[in-house]
Amino acid sequence: MLLNLRDKIRKNKILSSPMNTVIILDSVDSTNSYAKSLDNPSHLTVIVANNQTKGRGRDGREWKSFGEKNISLSLILDYPLDGDHLGLLSILTANAVVETIESLNLKAEVKWPNDILVKSKKISGILSEAVFKNNKSKYLIVGVGINVNSTSQDFDTENFKYRLEPTSVKSETGGSCSREDLILVFLVSFFGWIQKFKHKKYKEILDFWLKRYPDFGRTVSVLKNGEQIDGKIVNLSLNGELLLDVGGKIEIVNSGEIFA
Ligand code: BTN
Repeated sequence: MLLNLRDKIRKNKILSSPMNTVIILDSVDSTNSYAKSLDNPSHLTVIVANNQTKGRGRDGREWKSFGEKNISLSLILDYPLDGDHLGLLSILTANAVVETIESLNLKAEVKWPNDILVKSKKISGILSEAVFKNNKSKYLIVGVGINVNSTSQDFDTENFKYRLEPTSVKSETGGSCSREDLILVFLVSFFGWIQKFKHKKYKEILDFWLKRYPDFGRTVSVLKNGEQIDGKIVNLSLNGELLLDVGGKIEIVNSGEIFA
């Protein structure tokens, strides 16, 4: 259960005022789906589920949350329709997950577009979804799943096909960890990154991410809308897109999956 989470958020000097709408659910199909169902949610609404029964991953994949063992939360961010640099909101969320993992003395790496890895195994994934509102503005739902207290027995890799081998905080540190405390570390970090975004510190956001990106400079194959593109990763755009050097020409890849 996440019985003390609301109290801990309220007592936290950094979080108490900006994150004034925190919805804590005992069990829900998906925190992202729940966020989508809200009418006029306010900016920086946080939805946390103790248990998620039908978590969703990118590209229609299933995301397993393992009952009360892991972290499942969604953040709602308001932004204008013509807003720039929106892709950076997922990147800065990944930065906050990285800081959360690093607070446990684990070395975190990122994988484009939105995975967080420890020792090349996936510990967290992010699912960003845009929702349109009255044709005037839209909001972004950023869903974050972090494997905390699940173990290799839970993952059951023989019967469930994972795209990347999974891991968890418990598997990497050998001990159980308080989800409430980790959620707090994540929210404080996330709020710090949101402040940087607000102050247009886009390069700082990108540089933090790129420092933890081992594929940077590598030649990779990306699957984009069913088409394979081979190129060298030379940078990320200020909108979080992958910039690939394909035979001397820069290709911008805004979605897809690196598979080799
Ligand atoms: C991925 O790696 O494919 C993205 C996984 C995102 C999972 C989180 S858990 C909280 C939120 N609610 C969902 O249904 N999905 C995201």
